[in-house]
Amino acid sequence: MFKRTFLNAMLGLGLAGTLGLAQAQDNTFKIGLILPMSGPFASTGKQLESAAKLYMAQNGDTVAGRKVVLIVKDDTGSPDVTKRIAQELVVNDKVQVLAGFGLTPLAMATAPVATQSKTPMVVMAAATSIVTEASPYIVRTSFTVPQVVTTLADWATKNNIKRVVSLVTDYAPGVDSEKYFNQRFIANGGQVIETLRVPLRNPDFAPFLQRVRDAKPDALFTFVPAGVGSALMKQFAERGLDKAGIRLIAEGSVTDDDILNNMGEVAVGVVTAHHYSAAHKSAVNKKFVEAFGKANNGARPNFMAVGAYDGMRVIYEAAKSSKGQGGEVLLNAMKGQVFESPRGQMYIDAQTRDVVHSIYVRRVERIGDQLWNQEIETVTDVKDIGKGR
Ligand code: PHB
Repeated sequence: MFKRTFLNAMLGLGLAGTLGLAQAQDNTFKIGLILPMSGPFASTGKQLESAAKLYMAQNGDTVAGRKVVLIVKDDTGSPDVTKRIAQELVVNDKVQVLAGFGLTPLAMATAPVATQSKTPMVVMAAATSIVTEASPYIVRTSFTVPQVVTTLADWATKNNIKRVVSLVTDYAPGVDSEKYFNQRFIANGGQVIETLRVPLRNPDFAPFLQRVRDAKPDALFTFVPAGVGSALMKQFAERGLDKAGIRLIAEGSVTDDDILNNMGEVAVGVVTAHHYSAAHKSAVNKKFVEAFGKANNGARPNFMAVGAYDGMRVIYEAAKSSKGQGGEVLLNAMKGQVFESPRGQMYIDAQTRDVVHSIYVRRVERIGDQLWNQEIETVTDVKDIGKGR
């Protein structure tokens, strides 16, 4: 208790400003990577950690003449724990960068720590539109939910889907999914006949899916966070929604590449929109997927992995051009970076500090004995439309 109060007081008094000196005297460049490594979102933490380590293995552990030290901490998926760990990393470990943030509430809880200590905070996973506005020190390398679901709503309208039910996880990115999908779909002339929300913790999809079945929409639109899609798919099949002719369209987290192969036949034909598929056809992605598999027992990288891999790229390049300096100088060097990611071409918008990239409409297809999110349409240079609306 005393320790926590003391840390808060230090940050509040701006004493963290003296950290710059301490950092400059040390020949390390420390990155504090805070992830859910245990609890229901441990698969997200594992993907992020593996990809960050892969980036370091491929690019070396020295930048601007300093040794890169990656400090990985488990936040168990709890906002309070994430914030406390961030304070300790800033005050005790004197990290130059805070990174990770597997869920929106974890990023939101930590934003004030970044602001008060003037530490750049690279959000590699959380995807609610508002996240980048929580601190001027946040840079995002994941994606935003509005980018994805508005692209999907346009596809649905063009593909003869007129009546939908929406079913989302009841927390920030689910609420963003519901809001921006429904708004765009209705503006396109479609009808949303019911909006349903399931709890984040221990969701039971069965009663909700029964209601969807009874409502008989052309399609179910859904969002659940990475790692949860298999349970939803299983229930969708068990309740016979596929047999009843209800199509399934989703925010791409639902057919997450990490678990897609375990979903079985019910997933085939599901259409989603997202910024990354392991099936993306480019030389950069082929190399990334192969290297990730080789380093992780044949595992497939998902969009979380790509957020971390690209986040490390942004940090490394910024550290090089700011010659190892931290704070504002490092932050400014992150803004405006343009590069080719395994997802395709992307950049960090210098004004919003948010990611701009292509959004792909994908259909799940079986190729040999594996399921893949095959890209069928591409919209390039998509900015977040969530800001200020
Ligand atoms: C989020 O909490 O922002 C989040 C987490 C997992 C996802 C998408 C969004 O798959």
